[in-house]
Parts: sequence; structure tokens; C-alpha cells
Amino acid sequence: MKIVEVSSPATIANLGPGFDIVGLAIENYRDIVRIELTDDDSITLEIINNTGADVASKPYQNSAVVSALKVMEYAGVRKGFKMKLEKNVPIGIGLGSSGASAAAGAYAMNKLLGNKLPMEVLVKSAGEGEKVACGASHLDNVAPSLYGGFTIILDVDKPEILNVKPSVDFSIALVTPKVKLPMNKTEYARSLLPKKIDLEMMVKQSASVTRLIIGILDGDLEMIGKAISSDYVVEPARSIMIPRFYEVKQTALKAGALGFSISGAGPSVFALTYPEDAERICNEITSKFREYGIDAVGRIVKPSPTGARIE
Ligand code: HSE
Repeated sequence: MKIVEVSSPATIANLGPGFDIVGLAIENYRDIVRIELTDDDSITLEIINNTGADVASKPYQNSAVVSALKVMEYAGVRKGFKMKLEKNVPIGIGLGSSGASAAAGAYAMNKLLGNKLPMEVLVKSAGEGEKVACGASHLDNVAPSLYGGFTIILDVDKPEILNVKPSVDFSIALVTPKVKLPMNKTEYARSLLPKKIDLEMMVKQSASVTRLIIGILDGDLEMIGKAISSDYVVEPARSIMIPRFYEVKQTALKAGALGFSISGAGPSVFALTYPEDAERICNEITSKFREYGIDAVGRIVKPSPTGARIE
């Protein structure tokens, strides 16, 4: 095989307290990567950008190219290739856009190399691609982009992934407030976080993460929702990026959201909802932002059980 085309879904990382370890694949948007192996050793990148935002167009700065190169490195192969990347996952709003490209790049290259590497190594490779795009290798976007459904990182250094496909139907009301943030948004959002947390806080946060994971394993939406709303470390630090965050959170929960937090590194916020409540809750969140003079765009998104796949 010399040519392959792969798509990978958008994702919501963290899901409240699961910072850098829990993520969920979203079916509404997929990046598509086509790779053709060539006979020389040059690397080229062509981009079809459907997002309206800037995309890293230099090959060695693009997460899809870097993760494909990492796959070759881990497989002990070095070849040239032409990559065509179709960007569909909105950029810079907290839907794991660079992670979706990285996952597709890693998965496509592994297919071309005859599936030499196991999925965990693709997660590691795609994590290296993420690092180029946002300054830090975190796996909670690339893992759900590769596997689909919920993913839980059990070991960060030598990736070990627990993949859980949603067993109950739910929706997510995702609302993006129009706020001005520094160019490298994820790096900025990470710079807001405390470098250390005290023991009391660690205990509270561990309890929330445990609730989140048990909720995911049991398919218990109320439990997942309660956990999503109980992040004691990351959400308070990042809420300053989102004007009126706590007023909006209160509105969402009062309207019947099962849980509410920041989507990935933001600035979108999301509410976990029963499917029949999604539209109404999405409108309430959007209206609340607007009430405070903050323009906001709402979308209903659904979980994707399918991660990276051949197109
Ligand atoms: N876990 C990462 C963060 C996700 O919150 O910084 C970024 O997409």
C-alpha cells in the first residue's frame, strides 16, 4: 500500500477533573489525512482548510506531519511522503483540533507501514505531534481521537489506555464565547495552572476523578455529570479566561445540565445533558453569555464511538 486516507474525530479533553487523562471523541467533526509514500525522502504538506482559522502549514510545525514522522521513527523506517490534510475540526475553541490531525497522521502512517505499531505507540507518537502544536505533550485529545468513545490514560510515560464506548445516549451542549485569547491558546491556558497543589486539594480532586471514572465505567450519566462539575484545580484557575463563567455554570445546572465545565483548554464551555434537554440548555447558556454582552456560539455535539478510521 502506498496511499491511505484516514479521518479522526474532534474531542473534549479533561471532562472536568480528569485533567490530561480523560477525554471523549465527538462525532460532528473529523480531520482527514491522506498520505502517499514517495520514492525520495522529501516531506510535503498540502492543506485544505475548512475552518476559517490559521493552520500550521510548515510540515515540521504541523501536528499531523510530526506524528507521522514519529510513527516512522518508532517503526525504524524513514521514507518521504506527501501529506494532504483536510482541516474540519474547529481550531482554538477546545475541541482538540491539533490532536485530531495528529491522530489521523499517526494512524495513516501506521497503516502504510503495515500496522507495525500497537495503538499505544500511536498515542505516544500523536502526543509528540501535539507537543509541536501546543507546547506540551498531553494525550487526552489524541487518545480519544484514535480510539473513539471515552479514553482514560492509565500510564502517561508509557501510554496505557482504557477505552470505554458510551453505553447510554447523551448529548453535549457546547458553547463558545467570543473572547480574545493569546495566539497559542493551549500554552496560555496551561500557564494559568498552579504548579503545585496541596494535599487536601489532591484528596478532593482524586475523589472527583474517581467519581468520573466510575461513572464512565458504569454508564451513569448523573455520576459523570456530577464529577464534571467538581474540578477543584483546573477550572478555578482557567475560569478567568471566560467572563461570567460561574454565573453561566449556575444557569446551566439550574436548567438541568447533568454537568458543566470548560471544554479542553477552552474557551468553549460544555454541558452534559440528556438528549431531549440539549437544545434548551444550549440556548440558556448562550443567552446567559449574551445577557452579559458576550457573544457566544452554541452547538449540540454527540459522542463518537469510532476513533481514527480509513476513509
Ligand atoms: N488536557 C489539555 C489541557 C487539553 O487542558 O490543557 C488541551 O486540549
